[in-house]
Amino acid sequence: MAVGSAERLTDDGTVRSPTDVLSEAFARHGADRVAISFSGAEDVILIDMAVRLGVRPQVFSLDTGRLHAETYRFLETVRERYDLALEVLTPNADAVADLVKRKGLFSFYRDGHQECCAIRKIEPLKRKLSSLDAWITGQRRDQSATRTAVPFVQPDIAFSRPDHSITKYNPLAHWSSAEVWQYIRTHDVPYNPLHDHGFASIGCEPCTRPVGPHEHERNGRWWWEQADGKECGLHAQNIRPVRIVG
Ligand code: ADX
Ligand code: SF4
Repeated sequence: MAVGSAERLTDDGTVRSPTDVLSEAFARHGADRVAISFSGAEDVILIDMAVRLGVRPQVFSLDTGRLHAETYRFLETVRERYDLALEVLTPNADAVADLVKRKGLFSFYRDGHQECCAIRKIEPLKRKLSSLDAWITGQRRDQSATRTAVPFVQPDIAFSRPDHSITKYNPLAHWSSAEVWQYIRTHDVPYNPLHDHGFASIGCEPCTRPVGPHEHERNGRWWWEQADGKECGLHAQNIRPVRIVG
């Protein structure tokens, strides 16, 4: 089979397309036990592909409480466009209040983003994954120095428990940013309007800034930290084999 822009070889030489990986996820786990984790451009492509496959996917988004106003509107655009029961997960209010009381609203600039991300993203994700067997992400290998080896399918060692294993699917692992934007334009997929204002990779408002035309997209995230440490914990296993749930 020819290897085109939508199909790539895996490490063992197998040709896989994103829809092939998505189909495997839904077939293996059933649409009620796997969900698409949605925040950005790649994730809407996955939603679009799933809908084209005839699946009404479960989709969730982690609302940290610190997203841009444009991102909240974008979530609703996607909800309406695909008629999704989009689940917006919120952090534990007491944990957020405690952090803010102890350290203020911008502690991450002083002592790193890990503590705030743990409360606002990781704990809600952990809760959500306890009701699933698998999740689907928009991670790509060329997104970051920490993602160069992201496979299509992997055991999620961070969020699996001894009695409950979680599988993680990354159907766009081999796609470039150009391929993402080609799909978005070709299929008229909704995207966050911040992309038209220099934002390449979009996370929380205080931790995201626009990048220049030749700058790497990841430079706009947690720019005060080292490139090899820029994982908030959702994908911590890209850096080291951590276990988040016991
Ligand atoms: S992050 O860990 O650095 O924030 P990034 O923004 O690159 O991740 O997104 C990679 C993938 O992680 C997304 O395609 C999506 O599947 C998931 N993800 C990131 N942030 C969120 C979020 N707030 N809600 C749901 N999924 C998210
Ligand atoms: Fe907190 Fe920034 Fe992490 Fe958002 S990205 S949860 S604001 S540290």
